[in-house]
Amino acid sequence: MKVLKLLPFMIAAALVQAPAANAGDLAKGEQVYKASCASCHGSGLMGAPKLGDKAAWGPRVSKGKDAVYANALKGFKMMPAKGGNPGLKDDEVKAVVDYMISKAS
Ligand code: HEC
Repeated sequence: MKVLKLLPFMIAAALVQAPAANAGDLAKGEQVYKASCASCHGSGLMGAPKLGDKAAWGPRVSKGKDAVYANALKGFKMMPAKGGNPGLKDDEVKAVVDYMISKAS
């Protein structure tokens, strides 16, 4: 019956870990952002919405996150698909989008 006694602790540990995973995604997003996206989104090159620029991001985010993800993955006007880096996984690109949105909200 030892397992039953441990169960509440295991559940508590799982709950504590949940927010940490999210923070990890943002950290991963920041890393990929610096490597693949900052060249345009850091300076606003070619009209790219700058990191942390609420006025530039607000109307984009208001379309809904899924539309913003899709534009980042497939490309959109001067925005190349996956920022011109086809080696990135979809999840990595989405993590960057989450990171960029978190900086502009
Ligand atoms: C070569 C320059 C360039 C690079 C590199 C680049 N972007 Fe962009 N990005 C743009 C431009 C320009 C726009 C604005 C397009 C428009 O609205 O006309 C944009 C727009 C976006 C948007 C807004 C889409 C929307 O729905 O309005 C997202 C999200 C985005 N980029 C994500 C990324 C991510 C993630 C990366 C890195 C993996 C990246 N970009 C790399 C140029 C770039």
